[in-house]
Amino acid sequence: MILTVTPNPCVDRIYSAPGFRSGGIHRVSKPLVRAGGKGINVARTLHLLGGEVHATGFLGGLNGEYIRGELRNEGIGDFFLTVQEETRSKIAITDTRTGEETEINEPGPMITEEQDKFLRHLDSLVRRYGYSYVAFCGSLPRGANNDFYFRCVELVQSIGVKCAVDTSGEALKRSIEAKPWIVKPNRAELSEIVKAKIESYDDIMKQCHAILDSGVGNIVVTLGSCGAVYINGFGAWSASPPMVPVAHSLGSGDAFLSGLLRGFEMNLDPHDSLKLAMATAALHIQGALPDEYAKQKISELETNVTVGKLCVGGGV
Ligand SMILES: Nc1ncnc2c1ncn2[C@@H]1O[C@H](COP(=O)(O)OP(=O)(O)OP(=O)(O)O)[C@@H](O)[C@H]1O
Ligand SMILES: [Mg+2]
Repeated sequence: MILTVTPNPCVDRIYSAPGFRSGGIHRVSKPLVRAGGKGINVARTLHLLGGEVHATGFLGGLNGEYIRGELRNEGIGDFFLTVQEETRSKIAITDTRTGEETEINEPGPMITEEQDKFLRHLDSLVRRYGYSYVAFCGSLPRGANNDFYFRCVELVQSIGVKCAVDTSGEALKRSIEAKPWIVKPNRAELSEIVKAKIESYDDIMKQCHAILDSGVGNIVVTLGSCGAVYINGFGAWSASPPMVPVAHSLGSGDAFLSGLLRGFEMNLDPHDSLKLAMATAALHIQGALPDEYAKQKISELETNVTVGKLCVGGGV
């Protein structure tokens, strides 16, 4: 069983408004409303892949209730802490004539003293359910300290449970100091924390080996349409995605992480976990996740993923 942590979840409200302009009055059809946030996305996809999953983080107000309802309907264990302030909404308005998207992001609740309460909550969850992995996903809420993930990872791994971290900036940098079992930056996130350009496999190897030397177990760097690189103390593998039509790429990293963790949970080796991760991401970018036929489609896509020992020297 896997636990995902989403400290800063949201309710996504997606409107289609042909000819949208600021200052105009637009009659729109019913918005697409969905529980969002990276850890929730990962939980949802893990569940589709056949995994048992719990989700935690902070939820408040009517939006919080909405998300709880969705988790219940989808068969995901809801272990979110309730906070006073309202969980944020994220509004996306797509002009269906031009494809242009306008986003309105609310700030979300302030999380200050709730952090210590969450650590106690996390401690009891991990001891009670004995997860195989705990995944910390996405940005931190307002008021949270940059060392929030660091403290969480240190706590969870001291109990003997492996942690995955998918975040960015200072939160990622600090979490690495807690030596998580795996981190999954994309190219820009890696570049930001090492303060260097990432233009070749050599650059990735050099920077990732420095991170591995600091005690992190495994690193996967996702490279959008160029695939991904997986590096640990035993070697490095690169994977190329199958050729598929792209409907949207946002959230492909979350789908990727779900496939990877599900692979590890099923005791697949890095090579096969990477395949499952790439195939899951490939289905997501086609706009076909979530889908009741996902497992079958992913198995078909897996046959078109190429994974090989990394040949150093090429550009990315
Ligand atoms: N245009 C694309 N074509 C094919 N595969 C893609 C494309 N974009 C993403 N992918 C797949 O998704 C994986 C993750 O992509 P990416 O590196 O963009 O993640 P990310 O930036 O973390 O995404 P997000 O944070 O929005 O979830 C890639 O390793 C690849 O397998
Ligand atoms: Mg990402």
